Amino acid sequence: GRRFPCEGPHQAGITTQQQAAATFAAFDVIASDRAGLTALFRTLTDRVRALTAGGPVPATDLVSPPADSGLLGGVLPGDGLTVTVGVGASLFDERFGLAARKPAGLTTMPVFPDDHVAGSTELHGDISLQICADSRDTVMHALRDIAKHTRGAMQPVWKADGFLPAPRPDGAPRNQLGFKDGTSQPAVADPRVADALIWTGDAGTGATAWARGGSYQVIRIIRMLVEFWDRVSLQEQETMIGRRRDSGAPLDGTRESDPPDFAADPRGLVTPLDSHIRLANPRTAATAAQRILRRGYSYDRGLDAVGDLDVGLVFCCYQQDVRRQFEAVQHRLAGEPLVDYVQPTGGGYFLALPGFGPGADHLAAGLL
Ligand code: HEM
Repeated sequence: GRRFPCEGPHQAGITTQQQAAATFAAFDVIASDRAGLTALFRTLTDRVRALTAGGPVPATDLVSPPADSGLLGGVLPGDGLTVTVGVGASLFDERFGLAARKPAGLTTMPVFPDDHVAGSTELHGDISLQICADSRDTVMHALRDIAKHTRGAMQPVWKADGFLPAPRPDGAPRNQLGFKDGTSQPAVADPRVADALIWTGDAGTGATAWARGGSYQVIRIIRMLVEFWDRVSLQEQETMIGRRRDSGAPLDGTRESDPPDFAADPRGLVTPLDSHIRLANPRTAATAAQRILRRGYSYDRGLDAVGDLDVGLVFCCYQQDVRRQFEAVQHRLAGEPLVDYVQPTGGGYFLALPGFGPGADHLAAGLL
C-alpha cells in the first residue's frame, strides 16, 4: 500500500488527500505531571512513526500477550495511514502548568444556536486523534496500537468512525443527503494558499511560538435526518444547498467545476441568498480569508431508539484561525434552511500540533 511520510514541518492528514476510512477519537490525559505528559507525546510520536512506516511486526513468544494485535497479519502494509494529533484547550488547565503556553486561538467549542448537544458524551477532550487510511482495518489497528501503548497516560472519551464513499460517477464523493460534498475547497496544494489559510503563522510569538506550523481542527458530529430529507422535493433540496444534486453544478452553471457567480445574482433569484454554499462562501473580497479546508467523513451507526437511521457527517475542518474562519462561516449558517434536516450532536476544537522532524524530535517538543 501507499505510505505518507509522517515527518515534516506539518503533520500528515491535513492537506493530504482524503483516504477512504477515518476514526476521530478524543482522549483525556491521566498522566499526573509534566514528565508523564512528555513521555506520552514521545510514545505517541514513536507509534506514529512505526505505524506509518509499516513493515514486519515484532515477534512474540507463545507465553506473552503479542506485541501487535494481529489485525493486519505479520507485516504492516502502510495503506495510506496518517495519524494527526491535536490538543484541546483543557490540556492547558492547572494540571501541567501550561496555562501561559496556550495559544490565544485555542478555545473550547461553544454551543451554537442549532446544536443538539445537551447530555452529549461526545464533546471536547485533552487530545484528539484523526486516524485515516485506505482501509478500515488499518485505522482500527492503529487505534488499538496507540491506545495500548498509552494506556496509563491517556484515556478515551469518545470516538466517531467515518467513511468516504467512492465518487459516483466522478467529482466529489456524495454525502448522505445525496449531494456531492467537497467540490469547492481552497487550493491548499499551493503553499501560499496553505500558509494564508491553514497553518498557524506568525501570530504565535513568545510563549506560544511553539504552535507555529500547526492547524486548528474543528470536529462536529452532525446527524442527518435522512427520512425527513427524503420527503423533500428535489427543487427544494437544490435551493437549500445551492447546487444541482445530480451534477454537483452550481445553480447558475452546468458543470461541477463551474464557479458560481453570486455577484451577477445580487437578489438571489438563481442561487438563494440563504442557500448553504452562498452563506458558507459568499465569494466576496471580505470573506476570502474566511475559507476553510473541509475534511469530513460520512458516518453510519445503526438505528436510534425509534428506528430512525443514525447517520450523518463527521464534519472536520482545518484553518489558521477558528474565529476568523470556522466561526465566521458557522455564524452565517445559523438558521439556514438546512438546519431543519441536520443536528450537530458533538465534537470539539483542537490544535493539530506542528509537525515533527527526524531523530529525537517528537510531537509537542516545542511545548514541553
Ligand atoms: C459546501 C453539505 C455542514 C461549510 C457544501 C456542499 C454541500 C454541503 C452539499 C456543496 C459541495 C461542496 O462544495 O462541497 C453540508 C451538509 C452539512 C454541512 C449536509 C451538515 C450535515 C457544514 C458546516 C460548515 C460547512 C458545519 C461550516 C461551518 C461549507 C463550505 C462549503 C460547503 C465552506 C463550500 C462552499 C463553497 O465554497 O462553495 N456543504 N454541509 N458545511 N459547506 Fe457544507
